[in-house]
Amino acid sequence: MNNLSKELQELVSEALKARDFSYSPYSKFRVGAAIKTKSGKIYQGANIENRSYGLTMCAERVATFRAIMDGAKPGDIVGLAIASDTEGFASPCGACRQVLSEFAIDFPIVLVNKDGVTEEHTLSELLPLPFYAESLLAAK
Ligand code: THU
Repeated sequence: MNNLSKELQELVSEALKARDFSYSPYSKFRVGAAIKTKSGKIYQGANIENRSYGLTMCAERVATFRAIMDGAKPGDIVGLAIASDTEGFASPCGACRQVLSEFAIDFPIVLVNKDGVTEEHTLSELLPLPFYAESLLAAK
């Protein structure tokens, strides 16, 4: 798996397993995600589609929300792997990047395709200028 650390390799395997839970009858594009937090726990997510298409939830946000509901706090995310089912990667969408940035900005994100090829990034690289909470402070 392209020189990944043991920790990231484990996340990749968990994301591949999570992909099996994808509910994607409309796009047929299965995505699995796995997030590790400082506690050492891993949270899986898969995309969950809806017949009202706009209600679809991405794999990354399902994993993030599961971590938060289990007690994870801002700063606790230490890694994320995202598995696609195609030759191309499932690079996280803009909405997921912003949601992830609420909970940590500088952690590795590994993309893995259907053949197990991986590519490593960081959230700060994928989202160089997030919407910051400081921007809200100026609101009256
Ligand atoms: N999707 C994800 O779950 N994560 C991504 O990073 C990109 C897109 C899902 C949403 C939808 O179910 C399907 O992929 C096609 O857009």
